[in-house]
Amino acid sequence: MAILIDQNTRVIVQGITGREGQARTRLMLDYGTNVIGGVTPGKGGSSVLGLPVFNSCKDAAASLGPLDLSVLFVPAAGIKEAALDAIDAGVKLLVLVADRVPVWDAMEIAKAAGAKGAKFVGPNTLGIASPGRAVAGMIGGRAESAREWFKPPLPGGTGVGIISRSGGMSSSTAYYCGQAGVRISSIVHIGGDAVLGLRIPDVAALFQDDPQTDAIVIFGEIGGSQEEELAELITSGKVTKPVIAYIGGKAATSGTRFSHAGAIIEGNRGTHAGKVGALRGAGATVVEAFGELPQAVAGVLRSRGSKSLMTDAERRAVWTTGVTRIEPNSVAVRGHDIAGLMGHTSFGATVYLILTGKLPDEKVGRLMDAILVSSIDHGATPPSCLAARTVASTGASLSASVAAGIMSINRHHGGAIEDAARYLATLLAKAKALTTNTPADFTGALDAIATEEVTRIKSSGDRISGFGHRIHTKDPRTARLFELAAVAGLSDRGPTHMAAARAVERAFAAIGRPLPINVDGALGAILADLGMDPRVFNGIFMIARTPGLVAHVVEEQTREKPMRRIDPVNHAYDGPSGK
Ligand SMILES: CC(C)(COP(=O)(O)OP(=O)(O)OC[C@H]1O[C@@H](n2cnc3c(N)ncnc32)[C@H](O)[C@@H]1OP(=O)(O)O)[C@@H](O)C(=O)NCCC(=O)NCCS
Repeated sequence: MAILIDQNTRVIVQGITGREGQARTRLMLDYGTNVIGGVTPGKGGSSVLGLPVFNSCKDAAASLGPLDLSVLFVPAAGIKEAALDAIDAGVKLLVLVADRVPVWDAMEIAKAAGAKGAKFVGPNTLGIASPGRAVAGMIGGRAESAREWFKPPLPGGTGVGIISRSGGMSSSTAYYCGQAGVRISSIVHIGGDAVLGLRIPDVAALFQDDPQTDAIVIFGEIGGSQEEELAELITSGKVTKPVIAYIGGKAATSGTRFSHAGAIIEGNRGTHAGKVGALRGAGATVVEAFGELPQAVAGVLRSRGSKSLMTDAERRAVWTTGVTRIEPNSVAVRGHDIAGLMGHTSFGATVYLILTGKLPDEKVGRLMDAILVSSIDHGATPPSCLAARTVASTGASLSASVAAGIMSINRHHGGAIEDAARYLATLLAKAKALTTNTPADFTGALDAIATEEVTRIKSSGDRISGFGHRIHTKDPRTARLFELAAVAGLSDRGPTHMAAARAVERAFAAIGRPLPINVDGALGAILADLGMDPRVFNGIFMIARTPGLVAHVVEEQTREKPMRRIDPVNHAYDGPSGK
């Protein structure tokens, strides 16, 4: 858990075709944010970074399904219209990046959001981030910096929640906390304007309810009453987690604006002394200088034995891995104790876990097992087998011989899975841009796109990955894999890669040139529909093929003469008869 955003949050970007919209979308994707599309009126049907662009959030929701969060890189003049569009389309959280938004517009957005149960962060916000999971807006800049600066909680562990009234200082607070060994659950820059969506007390309440947050860090400012309201929440027992705060603007005098529109002392309200006094009176820790904040946070965590504080070994580490954790007498894979997995979790499910970080349910685990079984061996003549046997015949070691086989797995052998998935994804994106969301509409749109494709392929002579086979006219593994995929809850209708594969198959059959989905196409479609990263697909083939290669290498070295001439075609099977 984290608050407001995580890796599963379905994010759209309004203003995605603009300068910042494009640049920031790339960075958000790089960090792992689940951006699924964008909106710019008049630019529907185009795409940015492979994501479909729609004319309105309503169109986006109709095509993509429910939208959880919208980041608006729309200038102040258009922000009200864009925000109302998102709220009308059912988006439940908006991040309003633009500065100089008229107060009156912010109030209208607040009214519309309130009526529809939506919330917003900003205006004039750098955004929100849940380290290690996702970012929405501009916090952290480049993905590599954000990864290096903000230390995420360990799986099952905790972090501190950061709430800041200053954009730049939200990143700095998170960075210096990280330097002091403090892990962070989420960072929220609430924005610096006078009228805001979520304010410090609202975000503190979210952190209070978040099991992954065990302390709340505040970068406050003079002006307004947000810090005083937080003090009241602490006093009334509604916020019980430790609060550690710094309040900027000590030197400001009454009537002077301190950097942000909302940071102004009016009469005796919103003074530095008033805020510090209120928070300290409620029991919060308030430091005098910003430089003292990280150590104060670390000190509070240390005194509570908190899991949000890194160990010395973790702090000394110059690189990190999220795959395995080895400690004396303990081995954990992606946070799961290996002894606990053994005997309970199948190999396929564990492969899914190590590649995605998530333990699948039983049906998906069974599907993963079937995927691995489907590729365990494809005969004695595919390149991987011939390469392994050839090297084995020289007297090479088992590891060298198997490695030779693995090295032959490339674009035209095994690598077709990734290519097929990427190809099907392009067809899906084209269909999504054409249609609304009903499965029947989608089937029609995919059929239209697939028919166009078949015409293009016929005239260009291009090969498409994942279709056709040199031996099988109906690949026996495809039907079984699709059947198991259905059992696991995947669909070959609607906006899925499996549906796209079916549409291509139908389009070829319609011109009397059957080109059935082969095992690579089926695997590419299913693995993509499982939401796995296409970069691991060829790896899954390698994992699956290794037992077959070991069997061939050992057979070669025990049955055959060294350095024999291996006929690449003429061979016969002499194993047990088929069951
Ligand atoms: C929001 C902001 C970042 C946009 O800047 P930008 O990307 O340079 O602006 P652009 O004009 O290039 O792009 C805006 C896009 O929004 C689009 N847009 C306008 N109204 C829209 C609407 N209702 N829905 C969706 N998109 C809309 C525009 O058409 C434009 O896209 P286009 O260029 O393809 O036509 C800028 O106005 C801003 O406020 N900057 C300050 C941000 C800041 O500092 N925040 C506080 C941090 S502490």
